[in-house]
Amino acid sequence: MNNRPIGFFDSGLGGLTCIPYLMKALPNERIIYFGDTARTPYGSKATSTIRLFSMEIADFLINENVKMIVIACNTVSATCLTELQQKYPNIPIIGIIEPTAEIVSKTCTEQDHIGIIGTKVTIKSRAYEKLIHTLNPKLNLYTTSCPTFVPLIEEGIIQNEIMDLSIKYYLDNFVTYNKINTLVLGCTHYPLIRKNIEKIYSGLRIINPSAEIIQNITAQLKDNDLLSDKPVFDNTFYASDLSENFVNMINRIFENSEFKVAFKSFDLDNCK
Ligand code: DGL
Repeated sequence: MNNRPIGFFDSGLGGLTCIPYLMKALPNERIIYFGDTARTPYGSKATSTIRLFSMEIADFLINENVKMIVIACNTVSATCLTELQQKYPNIPIIGIIEPTAEIVSKTCTEQDHIGIIGTKVTIKSRAYEKLIHTLNPKLNLYTTSCPTFVPLIEEGIIQNEIMDLSIKYYLDNFVTYNKINTLVLGCTHYPLIRKNIEKIYSGLRIINPSAEIIQNITAQLKDNDLLSDKPVFDNTFYASDLSENFVNMINRIFENSEFKVAFKSFDLDNCK
């Protein structure tokens, strides 16, 4: 048993989409979340910059005495999971792409046309294709990046015709031409526009990595004897810029529970 917190991080508020699933599955666990809202989006940045930011955040979370780090960001998982695991060998570090690849390979067949959407960096890395094809090389995969989604979501432009136009701009031809019937939301911000996507493309099966990662977190905590044995009510959500939208999102997710919101800055000069 271990009652230290689990550290989550993302470039902004996207990683928050994992938290309700975690709270439902493991209500005793305490959370320390960091959203790099001052330096978002990561998905169009150089890999070297994303690595630098991720190492800074991991150092911060380890100083906060977390027992595990969850990379609640596809872009970071696609680019620096191995580096982070090598740098911090004494703490379990979980990426979000592996658990999703397992679900895709277990639940899809060769008849499916599987679309994977994400940031430019995630799509260019081909991390999803490599992992899924290792598990089942016969699956039909199609990928495309949607670079305006994250900035719009961080701005709170969600239930809005601008967001719907943006979805259609990136996905209309992609879905129709490739006959997509299953869509992987390969960015933790995208569950926040799931309803828009479902409204525009009814009948699509959606795979949500923010939900799929919870099974891996549970398994790792059990395997390492790290589960918490009593409920704690002081979850803390750090952001490098306490934007109105970040705070509103947390209020919306945790309306009935206690939590703390705090500011933590990093050097913006590193944002080259
Ligand atoms: N939520 C991040 C992801 O899953 C978004 C990356 C970004 O900041 O562009 O990839």
